Amino acid sequence: MAKQKVLVTRRVPKECLALLKDHFDVEHYNQETAIPRKRLLRSVKNKDGLLCMLTDKIDPELLAAAPRLRAVSTFSVGYDHVNIPACKARGVAVANTPGVLTESTADFTWALLMAASRRVVEGDSYMRGGKYKGWDPLMILGTDVFGKTLGVIGFGRIGQAVAKRAGGFSMRVLYYDTRRASPEAEKALNAKFVPLDKILRESDFVSVHTVLDKNTRHLLNGRAFGLMKKSAYLINAARGPIVDEKALVRALKSDKIRGAGLDVYEWEPKMAPGLASCKNAVLAPHLASASLETRTKMGIMAASGLIDALVCGARSPYCVD
Ligand code: DGY
Repeated sequence: MAKQKVLVTRRVPKECLALLKDHFDVEHYNQETAIPRKRLLRSVKNKDGLLCMLTDKIDPELLAAAPRLRAVSTFSVGYDHVNIPACKARGVAVANTPGVLTESTADFTWALLMAASRRVVEGDSYMRGGKYKGWDPLMILGTDVFGKTLGVIGFGRIGQAVAKRAGGFSMRVLYYDTRRASPEAEKALNAKFVPLDKILRESDFVSVHTVLDKNTRHLLNGRAFGLMKKSAYLINAARGPIVDEKALVRALKSDKIRGAGLDVYEWEPKMAPGLASCKNAVLAPHLASASLETRTKMGIMAASGLIDALVCGARSPYCVD
């Protein structure tokens, strides 16, 4: 019997590809840039499954171009790029990669937090630029982390893993989410549920970990930066549009807040005008889950999502509703 056909839209770990090839006839767009939209719409036409990236829009136009499509598996935990109601209406199963990237993402959130507050990137440029003339009591002064207040916005798996690490720095942890965590989780993480504005007013570090949807778009805007301490830092390793990036640039340039650590951008891969010249921002190219181990696990999980749906005829445990 002929194998079912799947499309993979970007270069992926070899383990992911090998697993897919065991079960499917695979068309692979094996590039380090996103598949052009026209090519995606053309290639998906005769496919039963699609292994996509967070850079591919899965919308009614794509579904209309793919009459045979029965399953989409995204190589990401976030699925704001997938129109879930449209997939549901067409009977297309959608799977993602939750869980396996939680710790890597939390580690990287802390890398951003530490790098921004202790000005690691500025120090690195200083050294490479040959500017270091010897130890100086007032050179590149940063902000302490130990004993400060961490505000976590979005207290799911990743938000909680970030809060857990704060214990090692004896921090006070505040969190906000649309749903309160269990008393056990609050106790274990020593975290207090508070309104969003209290987080903004009282935190030294505000770290964003919500999903992106219509309620969280621009949740961090000019008003929010106005409420934050002048000495506070914003960290975002979730989704760019949760932050009003132009307002953030204004806040960084006018010292409304002291700094930021960003892994994601409102118009990714582009940045808002002026952001690149903000020395008080540490900027990373969406790397939070980018460890070899984690990306391998994500690839295997994404491939398994398609195998479950198309070969086993089972709902993947990683199926989005
Ligand atoms: C995700 O999985 O949603 C991240 O943004 C990339 O790892």
